[in-house]
Amino acid sequence: MRIAMVGTGYVGLVSGACFSEFGTDVVCVDKDAKKIEMIGRGEMPIYEPGLDALVDNNVKDGRLTFTTDLVKAVKGADAVFIAVGTPSRRGDGYADLSYVFAAAEEIAHAIDRYTVVVTKSTVPVGTGRKVKEIIKKARPDADFDVVSNPEFLREGSAINDFMRPDRVVIGTESERAANVLKRLYRPLYLLETPVIITTLESAELIKYAANTFLATKITFINEIADLCEEVGADVQDIARGIGLDGRIGRKFLHAGPGYGGSCFPKDTLALVRTAQEAGAPIKIVEAVVQANDERKSAMAAKVIKACGGSVKGKTVAVLGLTFKPNTDDMRDSPSLAIVPALQRAGARVRAFDPQGMKEAKHLLPGIDMCTDAYDALKGADAVVIVTEWNEFRQLDFARARTLMKAPVMVDLRNIYDPAELAAAGFDYWSVGRRAVVRAKTPESVK
Ligand SMILES: NC(=O)c1ccc[n+]([C@@H]2O[C@H](COP(=O)([O-])OP(=O)(O)OC[C@H]3O[C@@H](n4cnc5c(N)ncnc54)[C@H](O)[C@@H]3O)[C@@H](O)[C@H]2O)c1
Repeated sequence: MRIAMVGTGYVGLVSGACFSEFGTDVVCVDKDAKKIEMIGRGEMPIYEPGLDALVDNNVKDGRLTFTTDLVKAVKGADAVFIAVGTPSRRGDGYADLSYVFAAAEEIAHAIDRYTVVVTKSTVPVGTGRKVKEIIKKARPDADFDVVSNPEFLREGSAINDFMRPDRVVIGTESERAANVLKRLYRPLYLLETPVIITTLESAELIKYAANTFLATKITFINEIADLCEEVGADVQDIARGIGLDGRIGRKFLHAGPGYGGSCFPKDTLALVRTAQEAGAPIKIVEAVVQANDERKSAMAAKVIKACGGSVKGKTVAVLGLTFKPNTDDMRDSPSLAIVPALQRAGARVRAFDPQGMKEAKHLLPGIDMCTDAYDALKGADAVVIVTEWNEFRQLDFARARTLMKAPVMVDLRNIYDPAELAAAGFDYWSVGRRAVVRAKTPESVK
């Protein structure tokens, strides 16, 4: 089989490489010529563990190619996947579908045989029908079907998620199109991956319902963490205590600085708008969006409180800038709200992130980018852990104390044991963990 992947970003590049690993011939298209040139030189435009080797192997085996020429890629393809971005539209929060519709229009003109056009991008319910109309209008003679096949991979573990998904969702009323998709996903047969065949609308909504449910779970535990801080309970114990209940489940119950990334913020907002427009508002998600927005500024306030009520003229070390570990993605990262708030309050920020600094440099002007975690700690009045990269989980506390001006740690990911940090002489601030007797009052608080 042969497919074209339109959009070679986090989803398109990983999905394209994984389909080629399954034995399908894949042509990845992107209109960003720089991206395609980079890949041609063997460099990955994004950081995703294992991606470079996967791409390299399949390029060498001749199953995976890259181009900026959409027409060439689409001609002769059994299926064309649309994996372009669907960011929040400025001002109103609706999903910006201009890239999807532009891709559909271009694809329409290139179709030269029966082709299944698949929306892999996360698109609001009703988009598949519009894609169908666009193609039909541009090419009344074209033989095609439209399918919604939402993607559930997570950055940082994207390859494994794609190759071992919990389920595959195929939304279409056409049996012929469903069969093309089933053939493409046949390599998952051995894993007994459930394949859910639905209508276009249901498939589109499944993706939003999944993401908003997960965002709700995160927001729920974050608010429980706030309550824990007020009443002396420990959010980790609560998460374990409720998570072991099979009806609730343990995942997505880690309290933190609020969800970020390229999906949850925009998808929660888009579902809120879709639901309002449809006359069936989803109030729980509206509350989630508001609580998560407020949380980001609350995290900066927490740092200021840990520094004795003011960061004016103080140095704050920030460890981790990306929205989660194992990615270079900075989109809607909590750091984008926390760092500027600290700067506005008069702090000098020294930061380190293993993969995010290239992108962060443009997004967070005025911060000192450091060479590693210990470099960031130099002269700091406090250190804030924003992203739980593995290399931050085993800091040498004694070394950290000698480098810092004051031993204050604000751990927004709860990667450390409060008692251990107190024993190491740190004034330790967690997210909703039980209160500990502080080892000593740090200089900054006096
Ligand atoms: N990133 C994730 O973890 C993730 C997970 C699941 C679903 N999704 C969804 O997948 C979609 C893509 O997300 P992403 O993170 O990969 O976006 P991205 O911004 O990383 O990549 C999109 C790519 O599409 C290209 N593009 C845009 N219009 C094009 C056109 N007409 N022709 C060719 N290329 C074009 C852009 O140049 C860009 O490289 C979004 O709808 C997103 O919500 C993302």
